[in-house]
Amino acid sequence: MKNYDSIRHTRGESLFVDDIVSPEGTLFGYVYYSPVAHGKILNLDFSNAWYVDGVKGIFTAKDIPGENQIGGIVRDENLFAEDSVHFIGHPIALVVAETFLQAHEAAKKIKCEFEKLPAVFDPREAAAKDQLIIKPRIFSLGNVDDVWSSCDYVFEGSAESGGQEHLYLETQASLAFPIEGGGIKIISSTQGPTAVQRTAAQVLSLPMHKIEVDVIRLGGGFGGKEDQATPWAVMAALAALKLNAPVKLILPRQEDIRITGKRHPYSSDFKIGLTKDGKILAYEATYYQNAGAAADLSPAILDRTLFHCTNSYFIPNVKATALSCKTNLPPFTAFRGFGGPQGIFVIESAIHKAAQKMGVDPSVIQKKNLLNEGDQFPYGQKTLHCHIKKCYNEVETRYNPNEIYQRIAEFNEKNKLFKKGAAIIPVTFGISFTTTFLNQASALVHIYTDGSVSVNSAAIEMGQGVNEKLRMIAANELSISIERIKIESTNTSRVSNTSATAASKGTDLNGFAVIDACKILLERLRKVAADELKQNNPEKVEIKNEIVFCAGEETGLTFSKLVSLAYVKRISLTAQAHHSTPYIHFDTKINKGEPFAYHTYGTAVVEVTLDCLRGIYEVDSVKVVHDFGETISRTIDLSQAEGGIVQGIGWMTCEELKWNDEGKLLTDALSTYKVPDIHAVPKEIKIHFLENVPNPFGPNKSKAIGEPPFMYGIGAYFALAYAMKAFNPNFNLDYSAPLTPEKVLLTLYNKQKI
Ligand code: MTE
Ligand code: HPA
Ligand code: MOS
Repeated sequence: MKNYDSIRHTRGESLFVDDIVSPEGTLFGYVYYSPVAHGKILNLDFSNAWYVDGVKGIFTAKDIPGENQIGGIVRDENLFAEDSVHFIGHPIALVVAETFLQAHEAAKKIKCEFEKLPAVFDPREAAAKDQLIIKPRIFSLGNVDDVWSSCDYVFEGSAESGGQEHLYLETQASLAFPIEGGGIKIISSTQGPTAVQRTAAQVLSLPMHKIEVDVIRLGGGFGGKEDQATPWAVMAALAALKLNAPVKLILPRQEDIRITGKRHPYSSDFKIGLTKDGKILAYEATYYQNAGAAADLSPAILDRTLFHCTNSYFIPNVKATALSCKTNLPPFTAFRGFGGPQGIFVIESAIHKAAQKMGVDPSVIQKKNLLNEGDQFPYGQKTLHCHIKKCYNEVETRYNPNEIYQRIAEFNEKNKLFKKGAAIIPVTFGISFTTTFLNQASALVHIYTDGSVSVNSAAIEMGQGVNEKLRMIAANELSISIERIKIESTNTSRVSNTSATAASKGTDLNGFAVIDACKILLERLRKVAADELKQNNPEKVEIKNEIVFCAGEETGLTFSKLVSLAYVKRISLTAQAHHSTPYIHFDTKINKGEPFAYHTYGTAVVEVTLDCLRGIYEVDSVKVVHDFGETISRTIDLSQAEGGIVQGIGWMTCEELKWNDEGKLLTDALSTYKVPDIHAVPKEIKIHFLENVPNPFGPNKSKAIGEPPFMYGIGAYFALAYAMKAFNPNFNLDYSAPLTPEKVLLTLYNKQKI
């Protein structure tokens, strides 16, 4: 695979936070956190902890010079607990010592007395107690209440989807050290360096310019470091400031799994009304989002659930209500798809239920309701360059689902203990941060006198390949060899006021900014060349593959020579550009607008084989037609699609989080939390790039790819349901995910209809 980092990764040379050579005298932090889910802190005793060798400092809320506040959207989250704790894992203190083991040892010696308070873990229970993070959000179109009576069928049900552990390979990590003038430099494994900078400044009571945040790359983020890299970075910075020494804070794996937020579990109700021939006339859904103990990004995630409540379908009457419910679990956070997958799972469940009752395959209903050009989403935006039908139809012609179903029927007829199943899943995903102002980025491009180029932007590399894409974009724009281009670390002193690399917008936003910065440089270089060539129209000058052309003729000038010339002529070889997504807007009072620059479309057909004796299963194939626009890098886009699919399958099938009655996470290690491994990967993944679909709203006509393919994994759930029904005709799906092998086995032999 060609990626900027491939060779370094393969050789083990790539630097992650823990690999960076630490300054002399670096100290190590360990977080002491609440062992109870809800309680009052009665007494906190550090005396025994101080006796441990090497302990240099123990910091709590009392040591914070500024505000003890890290909430980004709602100011409801303390960095360190003050009088009360709200989840198991709630940070209470940071212990700093000469070694990690000493810090850990000291933390074990902290004595804390709590008065336990009643705790709530279920989102519906929280809603009943009015424990909401924000007021309920409602998106609507038409009027559902007017049409139920004119529907031939109305079905109701509920659906549950579980949380998901990010399991980035690099756990939360930061290294902070004091710099001249009372400032702090923070090296953090964060998707959002500016969020780290802003929060550190507030907590330390410093101006933002005294905090410099630098990020080389992340060993994965998947949304888990959009907001939740911040507290650890800020704790390290606080200790570095207080002790005037470098402090490294890296969460051990098990602690990372225990105390950081995950994908939000949802519990939802749906009601769907259809005509005899499967046209959906009305859809109503209520989502209970388990937000955990603080808002974090929950309100934005809640909104994306609503934005995707109708997935790829046009439904004329919709009412979708979403509640963000406060519970005593670690605050749940961004995870690939950002609430979209949760919304899509519910509508697909509703369609599946309707199909079962009507005695048709779900694809019959899916096809009847796919979006057409100009159709309106419940949030007011209309589709433009809508390719969902193209993708769905192309799946039918390329992969022939009818033939697949026939083959499956024959197989199931012949085999008693093995059953196969299949499902089709269309996906439509809106591209942009739904929080409009976040859709901005900037780039700073330097050309050095030797013709080498350095590109700085707001983009964070986390394995998704944004650096390689930006490199390709810069090389293409300047028409020079890609070898000349280096992507620098992401640094708040070089590129300011960045949005997190998230919402799949990394390449779109930063790519456009890089293009604009390159255009500024080119314009200057063309003018220098025109002067040199005594050509009064710089428009006639062009650089093609490092060679300078004038009026179509090759000149003696090359890119390198031109750069030296520009320098001698005292022309700036540095350019900065800022890009903000045009047109988009959204009014959160009426919940209407055009929040997305464009939508991404695709359809997958998923096939599974189920071993009905053991309840275990394999995904035989995932066959996809996806709209990549005009891809910038086929290999990167393919790998993003494949990775997303596997992660989506994991969410829907094997990954299951369990807490005990006290709110303690039981699945806090890879022995109890099963992620898809090489054996769980589909035996076959075929991804067809929809052809001739240039995207006018993406850099070089490309489309964002990071999140949308995740949702193809939902197909695995319904394919399994198909196979289960083939074994046990009495089986009725309860629309609860994940469908773990245990759960499959226990329901396969259920004689009664659920
Ligand atoms: N791919 C890898 N390898 N590692 C990651 O952490 N994060 C995903 C996706 N693909 C991720 C990934 C998520 S949640 C998002 S939003 C996008 O990448 C972010 O990067 P992009 O905007 O550059 O696509
Ligand atoms: N996606 C990802 N992250 C975000 C968004 C979004 O739409 N809005 C705010 N943060
Ligand atoms: Mo991705 S969940 O937007 O970081």
